[in-house]
Amino acid sequence: MAAKSVRQDGPDLKGPFDFPDSPLSRASRQPLLLGVFLNLQDINFSSYPTSNSWTFDYNVDIVRQAEALGFELAFSRTQWLPKGGYDGEASLDAFVALGAMAAVTKEILLISTMHVLYGPLHPLHIAKYGATLDHIAKGRWGINIVTGHRAIEHEMFGRQRIEHDKRYDMAGELFDVVNSLWGETENLSYEGKVSPWRLENAWITPKPLYGRPVLVNATGSPAGIDFAAKYSDLIFITSPGGAHIESALETLPDHIAIIKDAAKAKGRIIKTLINPIIVSRDTPEEAEAYAQSIADGKPQQDSKATFGNTNAKAWDSDAHAWRGRKDARHKQGLGLGGNIEIIGSPEQVVEQLVALNRIGIDGVQLCFYDFKLDLEYFGSKILPLLKEAGLRVSD
Ligand SMILES: Cc1cc2nc3c(=O)[nH]c(=O)nc-3n(C[C@H](O)[C@H](O)[C@H](O)COP(=O)(O)O)c2cc1C
Repeated sequence: MAAKSVRQDGPDLKGPFDFPDSPLSRASRQPLLLGVFLNLQDINFSSYPTSNSWTFDYNVDIVRQAEALGFELAFSRTQWLPKGGYDGEASLDAFVALGAMAAVTKEILLISTMHVLYGPLHPLHIAKYGATLDHIAKGRWGINIVTGHRAIEHEMFGRQRIEHDKRYDMAGELFDVVNSLWGETENLSYEGKVSPWRLENAWITPKPLYGRPVLVNATGSPAGIDFAAKYSDLIFITSPGGAHIESALETLPDHIAIIKDAAKAKGRIIKTLINPIIVSRDTPEEAEAYAQSIADGKPQQDSKATFGNTNAKAWDSDAHAWRGRKDARHKQGLGLGGNIEIIGSPEQVVEQLVALNRIGIDGVQLCFYDFKLDLEYFGSKILPLLKEAGLRVSD
């Protein structure tokens, strides 16, 4: 079922999965997509030493390292927090930074987070910026569509937080129009119904190379899944059971089935990606000791407002996606920062990734405690085993 432009008798709209040669279609031939979950902001949740840095140069190096290892995707988040809100001091904007990386990379998909309801941004801005980045990246760039789960962020932009499901209605109308602008053959006029903007004879050229940029959203709620089924190519999911791998493996299959069924019902394909932190060393004992050292370096009283951290009482969030972390029935892990924790020797890491893939995970966006060292370790010790296990294939 192709989406149609909002203009009466307007054209059918296409996405990158409709083009077998699009970067997204090519990437999706991998049994398990590999991504990096970049930190464009200070992450200081443990005093254990790390080379990690928020700087653009550090993160470009990581993306290039990932690209050289054959990773398909790089992603970063953006948050809008007041003074003292970040783990550390600095936080770059992912839309700008990942967009800039398009010029210094060749193969890897680059997914920028964008808070599409703050401002508000006009659909023409998103369509024009998106088409521009699409051409710079040659179809490798995409948006992680974020509607804003924290009241404090909306307030920073001078508004009250919009009700949870209404945010998805507004993002839906926005992308009905942005997608139309990307696919239209005629000028477009439209009056926002749930949105505070209108267009009169609006036109975007050039058109994106593969219908439109890659669209992504991260969610765990029914409204968010419904949105993903309709608009997204990739969905970033969380474990409904919390961060421990056993809880994740137990609770994810039903969750994934709901998502895939929702997309199928709309005649669409959607790929499910999750973001584990990989903590690995040559033996299980060494890996456990590394994980424990990171955990031991955490402050006793965790009062910081870290991202997705349920200890973050300081900022009110209405997100559904991390509710599993509050569920005492599930094992919760060590709180190392990833959405799930994969700890062990290279063989054990591969076993866990195989298990995730078997239950329907199409890709992982990897976090590391020390990106530079641990990504290198992943490339030399874990990647060859992933290939042997059949999760990575040559082009
Ligand atoms: C992997 C992942 C990445 C996310 N990135 C961001 C981000 O960069 N900025 C942000 O404000 N929210 C981010 N979120 C939060 C989501 O956009 C969303 O608000 C949250 O998942 C709650 O949605 P839900 O209530 O529909 O489950 C992210 C969530 C996940 C799981």
